Amino acid sequence: MTIRLNKYIAESGLCSRRNAEKYILEGRVTINNKTITDLSHKINEGDDEVFVDGEKIKPKKHIYILLNKPKAVITSTKDERNRKTVIDIIKTNEKIFPVGRLDYNTTGVLLLTNDGDFSNFLTHPKHKIRKIYAVTLNRPLTKEDEIKLLKGVYINNRKGKFVKINFPDIKKKTVVEVSAVEGRNHFVKDMFSTLGYNVVELDRKYFGQFTADVPLGKYRVISKEEIKSVYKNYN
Ligand code: URA
Repeated sequence: MTIRLNKYIAESGLCSRRNAEKYILEGRVTINNKTITDLSHKINEGDDEVFVDGEKIKPKKHIYILLNKPKAVITSTKDERNRKTVIDIIKTNEKIFPVGRLDYNTTGVLLLTNDGDFSNFLTHPKHKIRKIYAVTLNRPLTKEDEIKLLKGVYINNRKGKFVKINFPDIKKKTVVEVSAVEGRNHFVKDMFSTLGYNVVELDRKYFGQFTADVPLGKYRVISKEEIKSVYKNYN
């Protein structure tokens, strides 16, 4: 992956992006033994060797985690009420944060990373990343309301809709699978509550291409190839 030179230097922890630009303009930065003074220069992470004042820059190690979030865990880096957070589950010294959020009692796929660009990419509305949820309702979903949810209903004066609704068991209309591209907090619960339903159970089955392929409460590292394919699929 390519990255702007000033960003690469700043991410190493050496200095701010602005100071990195200053060093570049002052001719203090070399790439593969060549001095670079072009601020728009991009480097190939993993291939290029960057030096500032003769010191080799160590790239920041990005880490990507897929967690199958259990109930009774808060999607936050810390909690003022001392509840367990998703960060408490993951053993790493890196400063990771969750990509978006799941409610306290929602289970399922949650990604965590220390790569702000990746997080922004996944949560940017223009990429319309699809999330699929298994929802248990307090009463059967009527055909009329199913149509309304697909056409769009208003939540806090803004229209929201599901892009798809399935019934895994056609005889059991309290269990619904919905697909959404929206990222608003509490989106699924709010969609149903506008029509007078309560969400009793909520499980995120998919976040884009990622599914809960580890047991509840467990996590795994996402590979570089998987990350590359995210950028390829949505760009
Ligand atoms: N929508 C919700 O209402 N809650 C979640 O946790 C995720 C999506």
